[in-house]
Amino acid sequence: MCGIFGVIGQNAVSSTLRALKLLEYRGYDSAGIAVKREGFLEICKTEGRIAKLQQLAQALSEGRTAIGHTRWATHGEVSTANAHPFLSPNGKFAIVHNGILENYAELKAQLGKEKFTSQTDSEVVAHLLEREHRGNVLETVLTVSRMLKGSFAIVVLSTEDNKLFAIKNKSPLVVGFSQTGSYLCSDIRCVAHWANSVAVTPDNTVVELSDSSARFFTLDGAPLKVDFFVPEAGESLPQTDGDLMLKEITEIPDKLRRAKQAYFDGGGLQLTVEQARKIRRIYLVGCGTAYNSGMQAISVARQWLDVDAIPVIAGEFIYDNYPVDGDTLSIFISQSGETADTLRAAERVREMGGITYAVTNTAGSSLTFACRHTINIGAGGEFAVASTKAYNCQLVSLTLLLLDLGRMRGTVPFSFYSKLVEEMDALPDAVSQILEESYLVARLAERVKDCSAVFYIGRTTDYPTACEGSLKLKEISYIHSEAYPAGELKHGTLALIDDSVCVVAISTDKALKDKMVSSVKEVTSRGAKVVSVAPYELPDCEPLLLPALHPALAGIVAAVPLQLLAYYVAKRLGRDVDKPRNLAKSVTVE
Ligand code: G6P
Repeated sequence: MCGIFGVIGQNAVSSTLRALKLLEYRGYDSAGIAVKREGFLEICKTEGRIAKLQQLAQALSEGRTAIGHTRWATHGEVSTANAHPFLSPNGKFAIVHNGILENYAELKAQLGKEKFTSQTDSEVVAHLLEREHRGNVLETVLTVSRMLKGSFAIVVLSTEDNKLFAIKNKSPLVVGFSQTGSYLCSDIRCVAHWANSVAVTPDNTVVELSDSSARFFTLDGAPLKVDFFVPEAGESLPQTDGDLMLKEITEIPDKLRRAKQAYFDGGGLQLTVEQARKIRRIYLVGCGTAYNSGMQAISVARQWLDVDAIPVIAGEFIYDNYPVDGDTLSIFISQSGETADTLRAAERVREMGGITYAVTNTAGSSLTFACRHTINIGAGGEFAVASTKAYNCQLVSLTLLLLDLGRMRGTVPFSFYSKLVEEMDALPDAVSQILEESYLVARLAERVKDCSAVFYIGRTTDYPTACEGSLKLKEISYIHSEAYPAGELKHGTLALIDDSVCVVAISTDKALKDKMVSSVKEVTSRGAKVVSVAPYELPDCEPLLLPALHPALAGIVAAVPLQLLAYYVAKRLGRDVDKPRNLAKSVTVE
């Protein structure tokens, strides 16, 4: 949450405003910029979107050193006063912060009667910098860094010199250089728009950035060596008159091809046969959509794996007591590669000696450093807050990974392996077919939009699809929605079914069709409208027909009409589908 950016170079104001637009997916309730002038720091900030800041910032003249912030509120309401940057009372320091300072109340109390202008945890850092300043800014930043607890990426601008300073722990911070400037940023894809050399800052580090060099220090001030590398080219925000979410759904056919290619190009499962055979348990760990893709992939792979495989929500994994040893394979799934819960879980498994895989869309993200192995899902930049194409691509990568594992363990015959790999080539056309008929989904959305609640039901491999459909709908339409294994409805939730409710029944497995027909009867007899998502029609349902596919691949395509349904329902309700309320794309706080 929150995006931060700092730059030393020409046109620092325009670069910062452009960067904030690219970082807007991280939070979009308020934004601000500070620019260094001769002897003072000028600040412009506002509640609202980056577009509003861009308007206001037209009054700013260009500068050479600037910092910027786009906010997702944690401490303090959405307001201009709570927007970053924050100035120290003497105006000598300005800071922007991403993360949560866990000991801010204690620190604030120590500062006594000092006048704070906001309700945030972050402002305390500006006050501490002023209090600890004895003339040397680096020393001041190091002193303050040792006082902070929690997760933070903080960039400091001062009137003293032409440098920027940063403090980093458990929130992402990338350092970059181009021919014309130097940068600090929350997001590697954003900074790659300018920088051709980047470094991912380790935890508990202070950075001193000048226009041509960076020095890294431990919090005790000892120099630290950090490697720079060439990042993948930055992707521009797609130019579209419509919604990014719809654009990203329409990219799914092409991205599915790329996901398969990326898996093989990346070398696939990099384990020896001996290692693969020794694996005793598998965890698939992620949050939100990424968790759902892990659940879906495992529900399919259970058919061919002879080892316990469990999907786990990352935020639970950190605090629960899941056993891990050298024969535990843990796969961390994250589109952004920056989700704090997923990162903490990966760090924990690595410390405990487990085998760690990152399945991510972002090369060079923090998760790729936290895990031993990386598989890139090849979905290309995803900017709409609600994840769509990344889900389908994660499923391709995970299916291939788990198939490879089965093959190495001798539980997947080569004929099955090659058939499934070949049948993956049918996925793009199957999705295209659904997209061509998206007007049918749009028509259905007209009826679903007025429902008081929408329940998604499915059995076995269709249950994770139900979870993803339900998550999409609630994220962007704000209609109450839940997903259930179809047989579970009768154990409580049926009490909520009446004629104001819609049920979406997902049924891709013909062997379970009759069971789903019974579940549909249970809800239609209580007045619910039912939409079926299946390769065949079901009685008493409005059908959304799926193309026939190999059952192990059906979920990759079945999610698409559900993504479209969520989109069209949200549009009909007049929601901002790309930037839904209260959410952010990359959740970098626990
Ligand atoms: C947030 C987003 C979700 C996303 C989840 C995991 O909650 O709103 O859309 O699925 O984070 O994100 P990740 O980048 O780790 O896949």
